[in-house]
Amino acid sequence: MKLRVNKASPFARKVRILARETGLTGRIEEIETTVSPVNANEDLARENPLVKIPALVTDSGETLYDSGVICEYLDTLHAASRFFPAAGPRRFAALRRHALTDGILEAAVLCRYETAVRPENLRWNDWIEGQKRKIFGGLTVLEGEVDTWSGDFDIGQIGVACALGYLDFRFADWNWRSGHPRLAAWYERVLRRPSVTATAPS
Ligand code: BEZ
Repeated sequence: MKLRVNKASPFARKVRILARETGLTGRIEEIETTVSPVNANEDLARENPLVKIPALVTDSGETLYDSGVICEYLDTLHAASRFFPAAGPRRFAALRRHALTDGILEAAVLCRYETAVRPENLRWNDWIEGQKRKIFGGLTVLEGEVDTWSGDFDIGQIGVACALGYLDFRFADWNWRSGHPRLAAWYERVLRRPSVTATAPS
């Protein structure tokens, strides 16, 4: 399988973490791919018309996207316990947490583009503040529930690790740990996992 990634992308990181947790790395060739919101990468566009990473070309030549679909596909290819719980309350808790962290990440990546890519005279501070409110609203929810989480590093918890890692990587000055001490303590433990260390954004 060929997986288009970018080592800065938190969405690609979810897949890269799951591949390491499930022992699938030997079956996946990671292809570092440059992406830009304004200059389409033609190779990537042939695989994913949305021109987004990650994109996975399976062994049968089918292309899968987005990160959630790829993670769920990879989760069918190993014999360990599932990262997408099969049914019941655990499944919907993991899926809801995954959706929440995808939303945090979408808002954070939009902030990144707004501050690093958009010409300075076109930047709109109120819009950035609106995205930040979504991000910090999500962190408040995670802080309130983190002590109830099971020890299972499921797709929801992978999403949380990638969201916090991206905030550290691109927005360290926002200091998300302030006001979220329980989440910060959880994240310190998660940072010890080899899959998380090996995929640190760069
Ligand atoms: C980043 O450089 O922050 C980035 C790269 C790829 C996808 C999303 C974000």
